[in-house]
Amino acid sequence: MKVTVVGAGAVGATCADNIARKELAEELVLLDIKEGFAEGKALDITQTASLLGFDTNVIGVTNDYTKTANSDVCVITSGIPRKPGMTREELIGTNARIVDEVCKNLLQYSPNTIIVVISNPMDTMTYLALKSTGLPKNRVIGMGGILDSARFKTYLQKELNCSQNDLHATVIGGHGDTTMIPLTRLATINSTPVSNMLSAEKLKQVAADTMVGGATLTKYLGTSAWYAPGAAGAALVESIIRNERKVFPCCVYLEGEYGQNDICLGVPVVIGKNGWEKIIDYKLNEEEQAAFNKSAEAVSSMNKVLETLAFSL
Ligand code: 2OP
Repeated sequence: MKVTVVGAGAVGATCADNIARKELAEELVLLDIKEGFAEGKALDITQTASLLGFDTNVIGVTNDYTKTANSDVCVITSGIPRKPGMTREELIGTNARIVDEVCKNLLQYSPNTIIVVISNPMDTMTYLALKSTGLPKNRVIGMGGILDSARFKTYLQKELNCSQNDLHATVIGGHGDTTMIPLTRLATINSTPVSNMLSAEKLKQVAADTMVGGATLTKYLGTSAWYAPGAAGAALVESIIRNERKVFPCCVYLEGEYGQNDICLGVPVVIGKNGWEKIIDYKLNEEEQAAFNKSAEAVSSMNKVLETLAFSL
């Protein structure tokens, strides 16, 4: 198997590091436009091989897409990250052009690839990737919900004083501070609803903390986070490469599912060797569906901004 990660910044390099450690690919290409940067990161990762016991061949390249040829999965992390006080949406102008160009370059050498989009604003960048490549919908997947769900579990664990691994908790909707929907009603610990153990008020606080999970980190770090985003990207790649058929909330193209059309938005999907294979219907209640519709409205208007940037979709 061959995997390419585009963008050797903090998220891309961390994602590549996780992919290398898990030995998900015989060949892992890390590409960046900054001269020598990906080469340096790839060499650094390679020098952990004997320490960590992996054999992945990690290759760093400066903007040379010929080296990415025949990748089974390509992860796009390129673009500028947000600074403290910025929303993910404010990045659209710069990142849309970058993601569009990266997609075209990747497809030229890997026409059969599955594309994973991490660049922000992720829901709109996924929509752009799908439209600009014309790939079948199951081969374009946005990574946001896996990360947001991991943050949801972290805040739940703090309240419940439990293992995060005993929790099932899902965030659907957009990957934005106001568009994501932590499904508190459906969250469980060892098959027991967490609502049996936490007050409605506590659960509301957990949901609110989850929604600004990325912004909280941006405030601490001065830039956006990388450990959890990188690990979440690698978890998605793992389910594709190993055909695990895990159910993850991912940003995918909706054609009537969850009441939405012509939009990429986070819903639970089965992830396997063909990309996203099936959307799972969680049967939202009225309140959750209303939140999902509101999220779709916000993401839709962000998608329209692409037209003003002269992208013909
Ligand atoms: C985050 O939420 C990078 O969007 C990513 O940290």
